[in-house]
Amino acid sequence: MCGIVGAVAQRDIAEILLEGLRRLEYRGYDSAGLAVVDNEGHMGRLRRLGKVQVLADALDAHPLHGGTGIAHTRWATHGEPSEANAHPHVSDYIAVVHNGIIENFEPLRVLLIERGYRFESQTDTEVIAHLVHWELLQGGTLLEAVLRVIPQLRGAYGTVVMDQRDPSVLVAARSGSPLVIGRGVGENFIASDQLALLPVTRRFMFLEEGDVAEIKRREVNVFDKHGKAVERPEIESKVQYDAGDKGAYRHYMQKEIYEQPQAIKNTLEGRFNHGQINLSELGPDADALLAKVQHVQIIACGTSYHSGMVARYWFEALAGVPCDVEIASEFRYRKSAVRPGSLIITLSQSGETADTLAALRLSKELGYLGSLAVCNVAGSSLVRESDLALMTKAGTEIGVASTKAFTTQLTVLLMLVARVGRLKGMSEQVEHEIVHGLQALPARIEQMLSLDKTIESLAEGFSDKHHALFLGRGDQYPIAMEGALKLKEVSYIHAEAYAAGELKHGPLALIDADMPVIVVAPNNELLEKLKSNIEEVRARGGQLYVFADQDAGFTDSEGMKIIQLPHVEEIVAPIFYTVPLQLLSYHVALIKGTDVDQPRNLAKSVTVE
Ligand code: AGP
Ligand code: GLU
Repeated sequence: MCGIVGAVAQRDIAEILLEGLRRLEYRGYDSAGLAVVDNEGHMGRLRRLGKVQVLADALDAHPLHGGTGIAHTRWATHGEPSEANAHPHVSDYIAVVHNGIIENFEPLRVLLIERGYRFESQTDTEVIAHLVHWELLQGGTLLEAVLRVIPQLRGAYGTVVMDQRDPSVLVAARSGSPLVIGRGVGENFIASDQLALLPVTRRFMFLEEGDVAEIKRREVNVFDKHGKAVERPEIESKVQYDAGDKGAYRHYMQKEIYEQPQAIKNTLEGRFNHGQINLSELGPDADALLAKVQHVQIIACGTSYHSGMVARYWFEALAGVPCDVEIASEFRYRKSAVRPGSLIITLSQSGETADTLAALRLSKELGYLGSLAVCNVAGSSLVRESDLALMTKAGTEIGVASTKAFTTQLTVLLMLVARVGRLKGMSEQVEHEIVHGLQALPARIEQMLSLDKTIESLAEGFSDKHHALFLGRGDQYPIAMEGALKLKEVSYIHAEAYAAGELKHGPLALIDADMPVIVVAPNNELLEKLKSNIEEVRARGGQLYVFADQDAGFTDSEGMKIIQLPHVEEIVAPIFYTVPLQLLSYHVALIKGTDVDQPRNLAKSVTVE
């Protein structure tokens, strides 16, 4: 699930592998390791619990020489985070790194123990090392051995295998977890994400599902799972590793919150034409497809799911198109009924989320009209496997807690709603309101960010709290959910979100002086209703923090702190109100002293189930 980097080169490769791992750190991990083989066939392996820097320090003390190597950051799924469970895992002369899960590792482990293998870790990964070793004993090349191992494995994985006796080759296999080959001059590389390889190359070859690749210094051969040679195009990557530097910011999360006005501007750029929304990038046939849409099914996970929930309000209210939203991990295991003329829309920052990808693949068998991905990573699996794709232009998001990817997703979704709406008879007037709201948004968020100090001063009130409740109504309900998720992720405070009208049906029982209640209150037609919900909380001694439109008529009073926000166009209010909640979570996390950018137990891109 985490990071893989590998190289076949002539120069010493350990530092390059390490730099690759550093660039994958943002994904969240618990341990790191690498193994390097020199020309004489000596293999050195180093593994450490904790940060890549700990591994780097160990490497300074015990340098490893050699041009062929594999490296890994591990996000434990089987076996606790420890040095013994860190990758690479070895079986005699075979070394393996692996992302993902081998579901049938238990019977394989029993089989391998019967064959005389001894296990040194609790991981599922170690079975791959021993299986490859066993198959090599039966004869053939490393590639042939790996091809014989693959049918024995169940689950989603990406793996790279090295044979100490032959440092001229690495063999990689992709099944459900991304791998990309980086082409150099007289050297070649492999990684789970192109970001890891940008210091050494811009020429990439993405492996497809089921591909197995043999990577040598001067050649790369790709095969399908039956061993038949296949061609994969080589592309020149334009991706910028713009995240390398936090600049004046303390954390990536903070930097990414502050980048939102620019990220939204980038996302809007080139998508307007004479005051209308122009999504011609979807290609000449897209309008014909979108005009046929009678229903939209949105699929996503986590934060991306929350943007889908906002989009549902927009699709129905603005475009008049019925819309359902479902968590990908539920959708993929449910027998769902497909509505006529239904378009699948998947939302994902990374484009590699295993559940979302599986849901997309399933939808292809179910008879949907087509699929459209909204994604932040060009060339990701989700983008490649969807009929249509709209990119968010947030730039690399490093903080595990998603911020700018969410607000740019909403920006793209609102444009898409406008386009579909216009094709389905939405008025030009509404389109103008959308365009106007979107164009004004970056400046509004800029204004919002100037209230950072005010929001910071609220965070103290959360330092001794164990729970928090977020409330919103209408299209702000998903924003309350996103606010609660952010607080949970980065401050480890238990937080829940409710549609404010639902409070009296149960959660009101939780309210007391120890329960901060955060409310998002734009000035819209639900304001009066929301005010009644707020009174219900006040009457029971709850501590309220109300993020309110300056014209909404709230004033500070006993038990109620009002954060007056500038007025914003109603259509884009969900995007705008997200930002103060992000800042609040960030400041609470600082007080709590958590690992803001890599919160415990979390990974940036969840490529396992
Ligand atoms: C966001 O803060 C999370 N860490 C997580 O919920 C994330 O949104 C989810 O895993 C989906 O990721 P994706 O957008 O890359 O598919
Ligand atoms: N399942 C493997 C393990 O627990 C790999 C985890 C990962 O993707 O980092 O070691």
